[in-house]
Amino acid sequence: MGSKGSGSGAKTGEGRDLRVGVIGAGVMGSNHARVLAGLPDVTLVGIVDPLPEHRARATEMVGCRAFAELDELLAEGVDAATIAAPTHLHHEIALICIARKIHILVEKPVASTVQEGRDIVDAARRAAVTLMVGHVERFNPAVAAIKQALSGEDILSIGITRVGPFPPRMSNVGVVIDLAVHDIDLIRYFTESDIVEVQPQLSSAVAEREDIALLQFRTASGVLAHINTNWLTPFKARNVTVATRGKYVMGDLLTRQVTECFGFKPDGSYSMRHLPVGHDEPLRAELIAFLDAVRTGNSPAVSGDEGVASLEIAIRCLESPARPAASTARKGPRRIAG
Ligand SMILES: NC(=O)c1ccc[n+]([C@@H]2O[C@H](COP(=O)([O-])OP(=O)(O)OC[C@H]3O[C@@H](n4cnc5c(N)ncnc54)[C@H](O)[C@@H]3O)[C@@H](O)[C@H]2O)c1
Repeated sequence: MGSKGSGSGAKTGEGRDLRVGVIGAGVMGSNHARVLAGLPDVTLVGIVDPLPEHRARATEMVGCRAFAELDELLAEGVDAATIAAPTHLHHEIALICIARKIHILVEKPVASTVQEGRDIVDAARRAAVTLMVGHVERFNPAVAAIKQALSGEDILSIGITRVGPFPPRMSNVGVVIDLAVHDIDLIRYFTESDIVEVQPQLSSAVAEREDIALLQFRTASGVLAHINTNWLTPFKARNVTVATRGKYVMGDLLTRQVTECFGFKPDGSYSMRHLPVGHDEPLRAELIAFLDAVRTGNSPAVSGDEGVASLEIAIRCLESPARPAASTARKGPRRIAG
């Protein structure tokens, strides 16, 4: 698996509040600001967004200051920033922050291209600033319970389903970059191995970009994994199953129920138990982990290298073009939810 990446090594903010800014006041950025405003030993300096209505919404929701320009936020003095602007701006914004020695958490996917992602990683390493990537699903307590259940197990296969209706606002990416990248990261996280083979099947049933993806993988450690993702399901579902030599683990990442089957007997019988799952808000746990890495200089929970590795696999999946889902004759209108 790619290197964990190093932390900054330097301690920041010892004995005082960390001054943190948020870049982008959209759906994710507003949530970052909401969570940061409630964390102890943190001063939320403000949020930046070029859109006045998004600034107004964030100010009303969180009660923090809002700025139209990144420079205005940085002029206030910040130790760390979270970047929740559109993905195509991550590279530019990250490099500006790194040049000012500001530690950054970059929302997933880390960048639009692998090269841009690598540029961010290299710049952060040279400047010795903490770079973490916002693969928030790692902080889902159900994922933590699955990871714990897999400890010491010989993993054989992983299946992940992440489906739902079309997002209310269509972005310029399809389901692979928007959704499957979460699960590519989870497969790498569970197996602690790199993905070495990719067999994607993509289809664009309604949208211009792929809206159905069936992705198959093999890891360097020999695990077979698949992701089933689409925007054609009327309800959200996020399910993980993992077969190991000794167990079968099933997790629902939405209801946060995790169950394992174990003690397989020659007669086909086995035992089953529900596993304890925590209640933390994943975004809160993620931001605490980021700020902890900033304070201590230790490696962050999700390194820049890991973010780039998951992006690289997602982009490899897109190398085979999406085909129409059905013949033109069968392709009728489908109501787009949201
Ligand atoms: N971790 C997750 O589960 C998750 C979920 C959704 C989105 N994301 C990621 O978060 C990022 C933002 O997604 P979103 O859904 O919040 O999008 P969004 O469109 O709701 O928000 C983006 C915001 O950035 C603002 N913006 C545009 N240019 C800017 C600039 N130069 N400086 C500062 N702000 C600028 C926009 O006005 C908008 O308010 C994307 O990278 C996306 O992939 C992650």
